[in-house]
Amino acid sequence: MSNWLIYRGEGDPDPDRIGDLPPPPPWRAFTGEPIGLPVPGPDSSTKRRLGGRPLLPVQDEDAIQLINAALYLRRPLLVTGEPGSGKSTLAHAVAQELGLGRVLQWSVVSRTELKQGLYEYDAIGRLQDAQLSRERGAGEGDIGEYIKLGPLGTALLPSERPRVLLIDELDKSDIDLPNDLLNVLEEGEFRIPELERTAKREGHAPVTVLDDDGRSVPVVDGKVRCRAFPFVVMTSNGERDFPRPLLRRCIRLNLEPPRDERLAALVYAHFGEGAHEANRDLLESFSRGDDEGLRPTDELLNAIFLTQHTAREAGSRRDGIARLLMRPLEQHPQQR
Ligand SMILES: Nc1ncnc2c1ncn2[C@@H]1O[C@H](COP(=O)(O)OP(=O)(O)OP(=O)(O)O)[C@@H](O)[C@H]1O
Ligand SMILES: [Mg+2]
Repeated sequence: MSNWLIYRGEGDPDPDRIGDLPPPPPWRAFTGEPIGLPVPGPDSSTKRRLGGRPLLPVQDEDAIQLINAALYLRRPLLVTGEPGSGKSTLAHAVAQELGLGRVLQWSVVSRTELKQGLYEYDAIGRLQDAQLSRERGAGEGDIGEYIKLGPLGTALLPSERPRVLLIDELDKSDIDLPNDLLNVLEEGEFRIPELERTAKREGHAPVTVLDDDGRSVPVVDGKVRCRAFPFVVMTSNGERDFPRPLLRRCIRLNLEPPRDERLAALVYAHFGEGAHEANRDLLESFSRGDDEGLRPTDELLNAIFLTQHTAREAGSRRDGIARLLMRPLEQHPQQR
């Protein structure tokens, strides 16, 4: 295996390997002052998605090269592919193998605006508290208590190791979001005008705000500027095209749904040793169905899980259950 690869898709976590990542190209170097924040450990969603066992080393070489290109070039990775091809899970796989901790997740819907990803300011809560404090003759709370960074805002905090940020289903956004996002990802920084105003009035002491991990973090002069550019995975089911300026700034990866050895590796990751052999019939019939239409991986995983339970019964309907569950997405269970 060529040794320029930082992420190898081998599954076994190696948190030291990210230290071998060379400095960025000069046009992607960022200079945020580090604030000494430790990276929070992975949460349960990574284990749930990856199955808790290291993935067997089955390569999809193009995908692995493109993931590394995004890491080296400090560019977001735009991942397209059919539903269930593993787009969202890819962010978790990289975080787990490289020891990059909890994946920051921003799920996009049509109403999502850039600001929600960056930070939220609870102006009404602040007003109410100020009124209560006045009535009690107490002083006003600090403005930082009313500001919470979103997943994108947190990913851009100046950390020494890159955070992993999943911007999920970007193609569901309204037309402006991809363009707005473009500027922030290009500059690696953003401003919080509410804090900039305070800094002008009250001096340049850091203000403590909450981040997406629930930690208190300092922000100076209302500016957040990244240091290690985050590993950003943006996923799309291809429901619409993105503006070319965004495409130009991303590394683009189209994921094929896992088949054969890679599918067997996923079965191992979720069900352990021996599961592949024990369910060879299901794996084969799942792969045979490819000509009938799209079958997402989840259908196979669900079928294996259920047939493990039905197998305990005499005269079990293993085949029947599997046939009901493993169907092309467009087909209803009643259709034959
Ligand atoms: N590296 C992996 N290790 C273990 N399981 C995986 C891996 N990649 C994908 N899977 C499993 O495959 C299934 C589909 O993956 P995922 O949800 O990431 O697909 P997706 O492309 O994001 O789908 P959608 O477009 O519907 O959101 C999940 O059940 C996930 O647990
Ligand atoms: Mg997904």
